[in-house]
Amino acid sequence: MPAPVLTIDGPSGSGKGTIARRVASALGWQLLDSGALYRLVAVAAGRRGVDLDEEDAVAKVAADLEVWFASAADGSERIELDGEDVTALVRSEECGAKASIVAALPAVREALLERQRAFRRPPGLVADGRDMGTRVFPDAGLKVFLTASAEERARRRHKQLKDKGIDVSLAALSRDIGDRDRRDSERSVAPLKPADDARVLDSSGLSIEAVTQIVLDWVRNTPQHG
Ligand code: C5P
Repeated sequence: MPAPVLTIDGPSGSGKGTIARRVASALGWQLLDSGALYRLVAVAAGRRGVDLDEEDAVAKVAADLEVWFASAADGSERIELDGEDVTALVRSEECGAKASIVAALPAVREALLERQRAFRRPPGLVADGRDMGTRVFPDAGLKVFLTASAEERARRRHKQLKDKGIDVSLAALSRDIGDRDRRDSERSVAPLKPADDARVLDSSGLSIEAVTQIVLDWVRNTPQHG
């Protein structure tokens, strides 16, 4: 029996990352932040002077990626690329926008597929992304599609960035989130949509603790996971 997988997909700012980290920590499971892989591909391509629209060259960058992740339950994390700390760079809005460009290239998605599946190890995996339930782990025992209204997602992202000392206007963020949603939902490969067997959870107006608890209750009631 392969290790159990819980997938948490959804649009940017839906709170997936935070919820996935908390749930993984509560269960003692591994965590896959697949968005960070696409972000790292964008960073690595930039460093190697590869244009983001050169599909084969970007896919090669994705296949050769030398990365290292560490995260703690308190939310702190460290991401290294070729041995260098790139955490702040990877988390920037600019990098998120570039990630959604490389993520639309089929060869890049293909190059990252096995790397993502390799995160599935006992005692289990919480996989956070856009296509975790539809494409990467279609046999996951529990699939959650986490969403929230566009206004709430922009507000949350704004607060997150402000807490990190990054100053961006709420209007600009709303626009960026809208653009990214459109690109992610309309692309031909692995578009952002809930898997047919996903449970959709709208987190608007719910606290992080409440959403975490709902997901943990679902995990306990899932036969392969409880
Ligand atoms: O989740 P995060 O904001 O870090 O993802 C950055 C971008 O990477 C997304 O906007 C999306 O285009 C892409 N992505 C994806 N498939 C995933 C995870 C992220 O296409 N599984």
